[in-house]
Amino acid sequence: MQTWTVTNQKGGVGKTTSVVSLAGLLAAQGHRVLMVDIDPQGSLTSYFGMDPESIEVSAYNLFPVKKHKKIHEMIQPVESGELSLLPSSTVLVTLERSMVGKEGMGLVLSNALTSVQDQFDYVLIDTSPALGILMINAIASCQQLIVPVQTEYLAIKGLERMMRTLSMVAKSRSSELGTVIVPTMFDRRTQASVKGLRVLRNTYRDRIWPSFIPIDTRFRDASDSGKTPSKYAPDSRGVRAYSALLKYLMGAKKSSDSAQSSVASQPIPPDRSSTNV
Ligand SMILES: Nc1ncnc2c1ncn2[C@@H]1O[C@H](COP(=O)(O)OP(=O)(O)OP(=O)(O)O)[C@@H](O)[C@H]1O
Ligand SMILES: [Mg+2]
Repeated sequence: MQTWTVTNQKGGVGKTTSVVSLAGLLAAQGHRVLMVDIDPQGSLTSYFGMDPESIEVSAYNLFPVKKHKKIHEMIQPVESGELSLLPSSTVLVTLERSMVGKEGMGLVLSNALTSVQDQFDYVLIDTSPALGILMINAIASCQQLIVPVQTEYLAIKGLERMMRTLSMVAKSRSSELGTVIVPTMFDRRTQASVKGLRVLRNTYRDRIWPSFIPIDTRFRDASDSGKTPSKYAPDSRGVRAYSALLKYLMGAKKSSDSAQSSVASQPIPPDRSSTNV
């Protein structure tokens, strides 16, 4: 089982969109995929028609709270059973306070996922923009971090700080953590986007996916429909870009399986998109 965490402390950069897009594509390839929503806002949960305000059993119940449950009791089938979801609940936000000082709280999700590792090939974790106990759980659970970044100045500015924080958290892990930065919402018509992409590529040469996710209104349409983008608009530019990203991530997984090396040390494939920038 491979676990990927999609994270960025900045809001609205395409984290949830990346999770549903990659999950839909993985499922279409026949993989058994579990999406985990640990964002108290519950956007991923709402995407599939559930209400994080009123949900009875959610990722919250994995923690030592009153109605503590086992992970398999809270996993729900979505998209006609082609995908599975561990939903979020708004009550997750209270964990930061109630778990303070309790030992072992950083490994709750990781331990829970171990018990379903034979049932899934891929787990994709969607996080909130806040760094706290939930983010620590997500980082402890995964082999790969995927960091979507909007190709614009402000988003890039905050990234450096976040990368430092992430690497500090990652230091507490015993195994190495791959990190792939994914430029998102790239709009070739704007100077801000073109410049932003250039800065990102120059700054994070060794960790950046060498292409980008373009701005594509079909993502919003897909979320209104409640279907994954690959189901809703399989031939859209955005879905084609996520297919290319998935291929890249799967290549990174294979090489880390065989060579035990991190994504950071992988050679960057030739940049075919630069002619379009
Ligand atoms: N490449 C894209 N082109 C156009 N719109 C996009 C793209 N990616 C995401 N969006 C839209 O932008 C909005 C924010 O995206 P999304 O919810 O994935 O961000 P997020 O990082 O998960 O936000 P949050 O931090 O609030 O959880 C959504 O309405 C989504 O449909
Ligand atoms: Mg989100």
